[in-house]
Amino acid sequence: MRSAPHSSALLGLDVGTTGAKAVLIDPDGRLLGVATTEYPLLTPRPGWTEQDPEAWWEASVASIRRVVQQSGVGASAIAAVGLTGQMHGLVALDAAGRVLRPAILWNDQRTVEECAWITERVGASRVLELTGNPVLTGFTAPKIVWMRRHEPDLYARIAHVLLPKDYVRHRLTAEFTIDVADASGTSLFDVRRRAWSGEMLDALDIPAAWLPSVVESPVPAGAVTAAAAAVTGLAPGTVVVGGAGDQAAQAVGSGVVRPGLVSVTIGTSGVVFAHLDAVEVDPLGRLHTFCHAVPGRWHVMGVMLSAGGSLRWLRDSLGRQTWGAEGGDPYDVMTAEAAGVPPGAEGVVFLPYLTGERTPHGDPHARGAFVGLTLRHQRGHLVRAVLEGVAMGLRDVLEIMKDMGVRIEQVRGSGGGARSPLWRQILADVFDKEVVTVTATEGAAFGAAMLAGVGSGVFPSVEAACDRTIAIVDATAPNPAAAAVYERLYDVYRGLYPSLRSSMRDLGGFA
Ligand code: XUL
Repeated sequence: MRSAPHSSALLGLDVGTTGAKAVLIDPDGRLLGVATTEYPLLTPRPGWTEQDPEAWWEASVASIRRVVQQSGVGASAIAAVGLTGQMHGLVALDAAGRVLRPAILWNDQRTVEECAWITERVGASRVLELTGNPVLTGFTAPKIVWMRRHEPDLYARIAHVLLPKDYVRHRLTAEFTIDVADASGTSLFDVRRRAWSGEMLDALDIPAAWLPSVVESPVPAGAVTAAAAAVTGLAPGTVVVGGAGDQAAQAVGSGVVRPGLVSVTIGTSGVVFAHLDAVEVDPLGRLHTFCHAVPGRWHVMGVMLSAGGSLRWLRDSLGRQTWGAEGGDPYDVMTAEAAGVPPGAEGVVFLPYLTGERTPHGDPHARGAFVGLTLRHQRGHLVRAVLEGVAMGLRDVLEIMKDMGVRIEQVRGSGGGARSPLWRQILADVFDKEVVTVTATEGAAFGAAMLAGVGSGVFPSVEAACDRTIAIVDATAPNPAAAAVYERLYDVYRGLYPSLRSSMRDLGGFA
C-alpha cells in the first residue's frame, strides 16, 4: 500500500453476494487500499435467496470509511467512484424510496413459472429479438411478475425498481440510475439499442416510470450527497459514474476490452466472457449477450453456477478434517493430491451441476455426479475429477462461442480458482489453449475503479485505462499429451448430461 502520487485516487465499490468490497487505486492501477464487509445471504425457502438492501448500504459505508481511513488518502483526493455488484437482483421501493421487501437475488430459482409465462406471452423468438437473451429464472423481470402474483399488496406500492448496486447508488447520490451492462440482465432491456424495451414493458404491463435512467458505464451519473458524505467520509460532490454489473466490471479489470480476448473467471460460479465489437446473439439463446462496460460494445458470456463452489463443496463435504489434518490450507493439500493423479483421473468424471446449471443446459433440475468410480479411485482422483469437470463445463461455453464465430485469441484466467497452478494447467489442457493471468487481482471492484477513472478524465478511454494498468504476468501452455486425453474425455463428458437428465429430475423427487 502506498499513498497516491496525484490527487486522482479512484474508488471502486463491489456490492457482491457475500460482502461489499471497496478498492482504492492510483492512476497506474496500484492498490492504495482494500476493505471488505460481509453480510448474510437469506434463504427463507429452498431455492430462494434474498438479502436486505440496508445491509448492503451499511456494509458499503463501512468498507468505504475503512478504505479511505486506512489508505491515508484524503477524501478530496478521490476523483470519482465506480459501482459494480451482483447482477439481476430485484430491489422494489415505494414512492418515498423505502424498501418494500428483501431483495430477490441472481441465484434465486423461484420464478420458473413466471419465466414460462413471459416466454409464452411474448414468444420465445421475440424475447430473443427484443432483449438478446431468453428469460431466465435469475433475471429481474420474472421477479417483478412473481411479486405481482404472490405479493399483490406490496406490488401495488412499487414506485421504483433498482438492481443491487443501484440501490447503493441511490443512497449515495439520490439518483435512480443504472448502467447498460447491468440493465442487460433484466429481460426488459433492448441490448442492441442499449435502451429499455418499450415492447417488453408493455407486454408484461410493467410501468416504464418504475425503471431507472440508463447511462454508459464510464459516464458520470450523479454526485455524493452531503448526507452520504457525512456517513461515508467521502467528499460531498464526488462524482459517481455509471459502473457495471460485476461480470462486465471484472472483464474491464482483466483487460478484456478488445475482440479476441476472453476471460475465464472461477469464483463460486464460473464465467467465460468474450468481448464483441458488434452485437451477436446465439440463435439458440445458450449464451448471454449483454452490453459491455466499454461504450458502444457488447459481450457474450456463459455462466456455470458451481465452479469454485464445486471444489468448496468437496472440501466441506468430505470434511475439512480429511484435508485439514495434514496442516496448511486444505485447498493446497487437495490440489497436491490431485497433481499426483494422471489427466483423466483414471476414468472418473465429475458433472458440476450442484446447484442446477445455467450454461449450457439452462436446467434448474440438473444435479452433480461422479461417474466411473472403481475401487482404485482415491480421494485425489475425486479432487482431480472436480477440477477437470469444471474445466469441461467451461469448455462447453467456449465451444458455443466457437459455434457463434466469436474470436478466441487469448484466454485470461482470473478469480480464486485461477490462482491454482494445477487448475490453470488443467484449463489450458482441456481448452487446448494458452491461459494467461494478469496483474490486476481485485476483480470487479478494480474494474469499477477504472471506469471511475475514465469518467473523471484520468484515463481517455476504457481501453487506455486497461493499457496503463494491466500487464500479463504468467502464461500456461497446453501440454499436448494431456490435451489429447482431454479431447477424448470431453466427448464422454458431453454425453453424460443427456443420458442422465431424466434420472436427475427423478432424483429431485427425493429431496
Ligand atoms: C451474471 C451472474 C452473476 C452475478 C453474481 O449473470 O448472475 O455473476 O452477477 O455475481
